[in-house]
Amino acid sequence: MIMIRRNRILRTSPAIRAMVAETILTPSDFIAPLFIVEGENVKEEISSMPGYFRYSLDLTVKEVKELWSMGIKSVLLFIKCADELKDNKGTEAVNPNGLMQRAIRAIKDAVPEIVIMTDVALDPYSSYGHDGIVENGEIVNDATVEVLARMSLSHAEAGADFVAPSDKMDGRILSIRSILEQNSFHKVGIMAYSAKYASCLYGPFRDALDSAPGFGDKKTYQLDYANSTMALKEALMDAQEGADIVMVKPALYYLDVIRRIKDEVHIPVSAYHVSGEYAMIKAAAKMGWLNEEKAIIEALTSIKRAGADLIATYFAKDAVRLL
Ligand code: PBG
Repeated sequence: MIMIRRNRILRTSPAIRAMVAETILTPSDFIAPLFIVEGENVKEEISSMPGYFRYSLDLTVKEVKELWSMGIKSVLLFIKCADELKDNKGTEAVNPNGLMQRAIRAIKDAVPEIVIMTDVALDPYSSYGHDGIVENGEIVNDATVEVLARMSLSHAEAGADFVAPSDKMDGRILSIRSILEQNSFHKVGIMAYSAKYASCLYGPFRDALDSAPGFGDKKTYQLDYANSTMALKEALMDAQEGADIVMVKPALYYLDVIRRIKDEVHIPVSAYHVSGEYAMIKAAAKMGWLNEEKAIIEALTSIKRAGADLIATYFAKDAVRLL
């Protein structure tokens, strides 16, 4: 047998494999999501996300210090809003002394260099568990966008570096960019959840924040997973409206979408490896059916290989330890 090409040569040893590896994870690839609750010294494990916790502000600050010391450059903040503060107008979302605004200030004070990104959507604040204002059983677009813009401004005033609208209303990026400009927040970035799909994989997150929709689903605003051209269109529009980073979410079921957007929208692309993706690995590992460490690194490497410049993941700390 005479062969002129032997593909296995480049896989001969760990050293050779490392030399030709196209995709290498580094700590600055990761954005660490954080769930914040009221109180002091609170650390509550999320039942559908074993090993992941809701922290009160004091412990959140401790956690952020640890993330920064590990080389992680960014956190993405979510808060759990008390039931009595929820309404259908997003009142608490724009409260300058709300939990989110206090969290931004506390983190900025303690770890000024870390990049603070904040979730912008009404669901944690909504008595209906929807990302927008509800009228006659519908999620109304323009009135919601107006609140999202004010919410973004209030995060910027508290010291957020990036606002991350995850609501999927039309026109919100332009409105947010405009209000930031009008108020001279020229250095605040926007990470737009442009390709956010109506996915079954957000279940554990909704447990974490007690934010499941009270009626219906989110299919009139989040994307249909049958489509990728729409995701590309929306990412292009968000970039034109002033987004600095576009996001694809979830990640592993949508690697084709990440690649299309990476190829055609010329701004950084992030991918959100979401709560259900975390839970699947955790559950299989607990059953002894998958090796957790290998599953984590393969998943995150594949997301980066598909074209993600940044990955929001609940495995950020595990991944850095494993690198
Ligand atoms: C809220 C929001 C959701 C997630 C991030 N922001 C849930 C939803 O849209 O219902 C999900 C994140 C995850 O599952 O890890 N707008």
